[in-house]
Amino acid sequence: MKTFTLNDGNTIPAFGLGTWKSPKGEVREAVKEALKVGYRQIDAAWIYQNEQEVGQGIGESIEKGVVSREEIFVTSKLWNTFHAPEDVEKGCRETLSALGLDYIDLYLMHWPIAFKPGKSQHKEVEDFWPLSEMPFTKTFEAMLALREKGLAKSVGVSNFTVSKLEKLIAESGTIPAMNQVELHPYNPQNELLDYCQDKGIRVTAYSPLGSGDRPDSMKQKDEPPLLENKIVISTAEKEGVSPAQLLIGWAMDRGTVVIPKSTNAGRIAQNLEATSYSISPAAKAALNGIDICYRYVSPEGWFFPSVTYEGDSFWA
Ligand code: A2P
Repeated sequence: MKTFTLNDGNTIPAFGLGTWKSPKGEVREAVKEALKVGYRQIDAAWIYQNEQEVGQGIGESIEKGVVSREEIFVTSKLWNTFHAPEDVEKGCRETLSALGLDYIDLYLMHWPIAFKPGKSQHKEVEDFWPLSEMPFTKTFEAMLALREKGLAKSVGVSNFTVSKLEKLIAESGTIPAMNQVELHPYNPQNELLDYCQDKGIRVTAYSPLGSGDRPDSMKQKDEPPLLENKIVISTAEKEGVSPAQLLIGWAMDRGTVVIPKSTNAGRIAQNLEATSYSISPAAKAALNGIDICYRYVSPEGWFFPSVTYEGDSFWA
C-alpha cells in the first residue's frame, strides 16, 4: 500500500475505507472485510453515529490477528459541538471510547463551524456559535494538545478553504497535517490542492465517487450523478476499469489520499484493486475536462436565511 509522510513525520496510507453513511448492521462487516483484503486506513467520525460498530470491526480484526493496531491508521473527526477548548478532549475521548482505541492516528476538526455546547445538531439560529466568539484556532490549539497527551498522533482539519487555512496557520503558528475535503472531477479544487501541496498539508479526497447514497434530503433536484457521467463511463471502458476505479485512479494520481465508502464486499475489493491502476494521460485529460464546480456536500443547507455563518459564502 502506497503511503505518504505527513508534515509531522507520521505516515498515512494513500487509500482507506470511508464510513460516512455506512449503516449500522453493515459497517462492522465492511470494516472487517476491508482490513482482510488489505485496507490499512479506516476513516470515521463522531457524527456518523456508527463509530462503535466501526470499532467492533477493527477490534475483531485485531483479535483475530488479521492486522495489528500499529499496522492500521484510523482517522476520526471532532464534531462541531465540541469546539470549546475545554470540550475538545471530551469529544476525542467519546470517539476513542466508541472505537475501542486508546489513540487515534489522525484527528480532524470536522468543520470550521461551531455549535453551542450540547447541541449536536443545529435546530435554531441560536445553536450556531459565531466564530468571533469561538474561533476555530482556539479549537485547533486544544486539538494539538491531544498529541502531547498521546490521544492523537496527528492533527488536521476538514472542509477548510485557502483563506481559512491561512488564518489558522497565521494565528496558531502550526500547519495542520491534513485537510480533508470533497474532491472529484466535478469539484477538483485545483487552487486549494496547490496551496496545500505548497504548504506541506496533505489532502484527503472525500466523496470521491460522488456520494450517491446521501439521503434525498441532502440532494439537489437534478443533481448530476458522477458515476453516471458519460465521459466517466466511456473513459473507464477505454481504460479497462470500472467508473469507480477510474475515479480512484484519478484521485491517487493527484497525490491525494482517497477514501471511497462501500459496505459491499465486491466493491470494497474492486476499489482496493484500483490502487494498482495508473491512469493514462488521455483519461486524466478527459476527467479534468468535466469540472463543473459541483459540490455534493455543503453546510449551506444547514444555515438559516438570517445566518449565513461567516460571510456571504461559506466556501469563499
Ligand atoms: P455501496 O456502499 O453499496 O458499495 P462516496 O465514497 O463518494 O461517498 O460514494 C459512496 C457510494 O458509492 C455508495 O453508494 C457506494 O455504494 C458506491 N460505491 C462504492 N464503490 C463503488 C463501486 N466500485 N462501484 C459503484 N459504486 C460504488
